[in-house]
Amino acid sequence: MIRTENLTKGFAKDRGIFSLNLDVPAGKIYGFVGPNGAGKTTTIKILCGLLKPDSGKAFIGDLEVLPRNISEIKKKIGYMPDIFGVYEQMSVWEYLDFYGAAYKIPAKKRKQRIEEVLKLTEAMHMIDYQVTSLSRGMRQRIGLAKTLIHDPQILILDEPAGGLDPTARIEMRHTISRLSALGKTILLSSHILPELSSVCDIIGIIFKGELLVQGTVKDITRELQEKIVINMTLDSDMNHARGILERIEHVADVKAVDEDQFQCAFNGTRDQVKNVLKLLIDNDVLVRWFSENEADLEDVFMNVISHK
Ligand SMILES: Nc1ncnc2c1ncn2[C@@H]1O[C@H](COP(=O)(O)OP(=O)(O)OP(=O)(O)O)[C@@H](O)[C@H]1O
Ligand SMILES: [Mg+2]
Repeated sequence: MIRTENLTKGFAKDRGIFSLNLDVPAGKIYGFVGPNGAGKTTTIKILCGLLKPDSGKAFIGDLEVLPRNISEIKKKIGYMPDIFGVYEQMSVWEYLDFYGAAYKIPAKKRKQRIEEVLKLTEAMHMIDYQVTSLSRGMRQRIGLAKTLIHDPQILILDEPAGGLDPTARIEMRHTISRLSALGKTILLSSHILPELSSVCDIIGIIFKGELLVQGTVKDITRELQEKIVINMTLDSDMNHARGILERIEHVADVKAVDEDQFQCAFNGTRDQVKNVLKLLIDNDVLVRWFSENEADLEDVFMNVISHK
């Protein structure tokens, strides 16, 4: 639904985005993640037709992002910039009505639509607030409500949880999940990883303008995890068990983490992990619990970036 082909926009030799190939399938939540200055906003602005690439192509659905397609693309996408202005002298209702009118929603329908978007963003109680009186978190919700006013199928949200406190971040995640359940395709950017792993179907990691990896959170963590870590709880003599464990191929760094628990690194393939359990049992070690630690996305992110 959102796609780029070798998208490039250079501001300087090592600043900008370089040959980016994004692929966001319909109905999925795509987390576009990278540190400050990685190129997230640049990519997003190109997707929304606000910035012209040096080379490469961007597509929204079947439409290439070109001036002649922009009016059609604008109907399809809802874009929430990282920093957006609000017209200070308006109430929330007037603000949303203004944008509804800009999207040519007939006056009669606007009232109903405003209520729908405020319900979706859990901001109905703010309908008569002055925009000036809104806190950062409230503004963010009203900004999202504005983004939804023309009922776009595709949402492009640049740091939607930026500057929010932990509770407001959780609420924003819930709202994004609700929007996804309505069938919308969502691309959202963030530099905060734990925020994304729980809500996104697919993650793309961008660093210095290059897309380093793209895939499901599970695939990425598995593929890029540096080494597998195994935890086990045993009902056997720990010295005997340690001796066996240390002789198993690919096992390293055996550590006692409790009086009946070991943790070790495993340098073989994921398919070979089962051999460790088998060899322990074959050597009369009684295993009560055996599990493989999944690395979290944050570890993987740090690995990818440090290798780069
Ligand atoms: N108009 C511009 N002129 C010159 N350089 C720019 C311009 N816009 C962006 N850049 C540079 O391009 C790179 C990518 O910037 P971009 O804003 O896309 O990063 P980002 O990933 O959105 O970062 P952040 O997390 O801070 O929002 C940065 O090095 C930035 O300085
Ligand atoms: Mg940005």
